[in-house]
Amino acid sequence: MRIVTTIAEVREAVREARAAGRRIGFVPTMGYLHEGHLTLMRQARQECGFAVVSIFVNPTQFGPNEDFTRYPRDVERDASLCATVPVDLIFHPGVDEVYPQPFRTTVKVTGLTETLCGASRPGHFDGVATVVTKLFNIVQPDAAYFGQKDAQQVAVIQRMVRDLNMDLTIVPVPIVREPDGLAMSSRNTYLSAAERRAALVLSQTLAMARDRVAAGERDMQTLVKAMRSMISAEPLADIDYVEIVDSTTLQPVVRLEQRAVLAALAVRFGRTRLIDNTILEP
Ligand code: PAJ
Repeated sequence: MRIVTTIAEVREAVREARAAGRRIGFVPTMGYLHEGHLTLMRQARQECGFAVVSIFVNPTQFGPNEDFTRYPRDVERDASLCATVPVDLIFHPGVDEVYPQPFRTTVKVTGLTETLCGASRPGHFDGVATVVTKLFNIVQPDAAYFGQKDAQQVAVIQRMVRDLNMDLTIVPVPIVREPDGLAMSSRNTYLSAAERRAALVLSQTLAMARDRVAAGERDMQTLVKAMRSMISAEPLADIDYVEIVDSTTLQPVVRLEQRAVLAALAVRFGRTRLIDNTILEP
């Protein structure tokens, strides 16, 4: 496993791998890796033969009052976790390597980025779309792996790849959870013990929603209300949004009919904002 910091080194390593007949699987991350990230990496390695992982806390996707500076970082630990996969190449650039100044270009996906997380994080998905475009151009992967944990991010990236004719396959990977149901996230490390216990209400609320649908509930506004009241009953939880939307267009769904829909939520516990979601199938 090689760890490189420059674009030139990535290009050379990828060229060699391709010359040796391997496909390139890519997993973009911001590091502080957990089992969710590692699941994406294992699938990339298995399906492509050569796995590239980027570890880069992207400043352009954080708002001015967000956690860019305190976002957890531990590259040595990350590298040893990657070695267990095993990953073939880690790209760990500095901010200047990715954003040489002056930097003047932004990739903006409209229609999918104004709602859900985009509403409370203006500009976030512009930063994501821009850095992911750059990383795709640097690595030139055959396939890139993204977690369903960030369902809106998956929808935005898939739209961008289609709209801009990017020549790669986007592979969505199911959410990886802790044994008690909490979706794994690098941000879980911010939680106090009490907040960590309270955060279980997220996966429990999504399970309740699936149960209600299995029992015949088709009115999604009624279901959103039930979800909101279950979360509100947890004193440490402060709701950002609870929505049921079409998983491709991200537009609200009023009635569940033939198509599966996405139930998505974002909730604050103290200073920590957590997201989770599930697919509801009729
Ligand atoms: P990050 O939050 O580090 O996540 C990297 C990838 O891991 C994303 O595709 C995310 O959806 C996936 N992931 C995180 N937790 C997961 C879980 N519990 N189960 C399954 N997959 C999970 O997402 C980003 O970084 C950034 O926005 C990035 C795409 C790297 C652009 O900067």
